[in-house]
Amino acid sequence: MEISEIRRTVYVGTFIYSTSLTKLEVLENAAVIVGVDKGTILAIEKTVTEETVGLWEGEVGTKIVRAGEGQFFFPGFIDTHIHAPQYPNSGIFGSSTLLDWLDRYTFPLEASLSNPSKAHRVYARCVSRTLSHGTTTAAYYATRDVTSTNILASVCFAAGQRAFVGRCCMDCLSPDYYRDESPAQAIADTKACANYIDKLDPTHALVTPIITPRFAPSCSRELLAGLGAYMAESGLPCQTHISENKAEVAFVAELFPEYDSYASVYDAYGLLQPKTVLAHAIYLSDAEIALVKRRGAKVSHCPVSNTALTSGAAKVRRLLDEGIVVGLGTDVSGGYSPSILEAARQATMTSRFVALTDGEAAKLGVEEALYLATRGGAEVLGLEKKVGAFELGMEWDAILVGLTDVPEELGEVVGGGMGPVDVFGWESWLEKVAKWVYCGDDRNVLKVWVSGKIVHNKPEQ
Ligand code: GUN
Ligand code: FE
Repeated sequence: MEISEIRRTVYVGTFIYSTSLTKLEVLENAAVIVGVDKGTILAIEKTVTEETVGLWEGEVGTKIVRAGEGQFFFPGFIDTHIHAPQYPNSGIFGSSTLLDWLDRYTFPLEASLSNPSKAHRVYARCVSRTLSHGTTTAAYYATRDVTSTNILASVCFAAGQRAFVGRCCMDCLSPDYYRDESPAQAIADTKACANYIDKLDPTHALVTPIITPRFAPSCSRELLAGLGAYMAESGLPCQTHISENKAEVAFVAELFPEYDSYASVYDAYGLLQPKTVLAHAIYLSDAEIALVKRRGAKVSHCPVSNTALTSGAAKVRRLLDEGIVVGLGTDVSGGYSPSILEAARQATMTSRFVALTDGEAAKLGVEEALYLATRGGAEVLGLEKKVGAFELGMEWDAILVGLTDVPEELGEVVGGGMGPVDVFGWESWLEKVAKWVYCGDDRNVLKVWVSGKIVHNKPEQ
């Protein structure tokens, strides 16, 4: 059959997804029917027999994709905070902390990506690696260079990754070789990148521009005001960093003495909005938490980066209890890993340190970490009706996870002289998921789809 004749794909097997912060739904012997033109879920059959699948198999225009033994479909991961140009520095941070790390490692690398061929190589690798880890949506910071920011948007679009792409604005306190000349130029360049994406993907079905003031210390008041005005006029989302490091928080207090907190600085310029993604949010005061909540701004929790750069441990339970929407970010290359599975794992680990001071309730479970990695991230980026779970009308952004074939023996049945022995393979689905979260990696990501289109196929060994 010609591919073009396929009208719908029926995915058959086990489906696992979050139905709430603490609950993972497991549908065994189920089917999800996806329309090929829009990539959306048309029907969910919670139990199907082989007979029904056989009937679908015989239908013209229907393709069947099965999850094999020990495999399951899971919603694609959502990375709410990642710096694509920093990808080549992954793992290189020594014992630096935020402000010296920026000067020593980050600004020189980002500046070097004004070379378009280097930018293309770095971005192509970053996008293909994040896809291979199951990231179907990413909120990217690019650099301050317009051409290379547009290259990142094109690379995401061509690879089929859902993405938010932001040109990084910074007109203050950055080195001469890597600083915007003026607020006006930074704002004009931001608009130029948004216009480019409007032409590339006019409905923003896949790629959306995102207004990106790097963080308060690298932005003048004029720049923050201009970006706030642009946010109001364009309706575009915004991403920035907040309260990541104690020295940074003190620096903001010194630079903006007229405001009583870091969050108030963004608020004063109209940048604290429901469509704002605040990365880190480690040292927010009670008053700031209340302000963030009132404004409906969202938080990207970046546990790997927070530990690597000795930034601290965000109190995620507190944010969740306040009703603030939280997703996960890799924060490459503050974070060393492009994997949201790693971020989910480290979110649970970090929460255990928080529990030592704040009490047991601070601990995040596997279900909660996976919720943040999918539905939480979707809500952070305003995509909660579109992606993050398997529900009618949502787009098929999904991963096929395979639990065999990795050293940690995730659910494998081992053969012996006496035939298969149930040393492995006896676990419940939720136990298998826990093994995946703690012991898995990209080798478990067999296939990845965005909006019903295959965007990654694990190479045969
Ligand atoms: N604050 C300002 N810029 C950055 C950055 O590139 N990474 C992180 N983690 N924090 C920042
Ligand atoms: Fe960051």
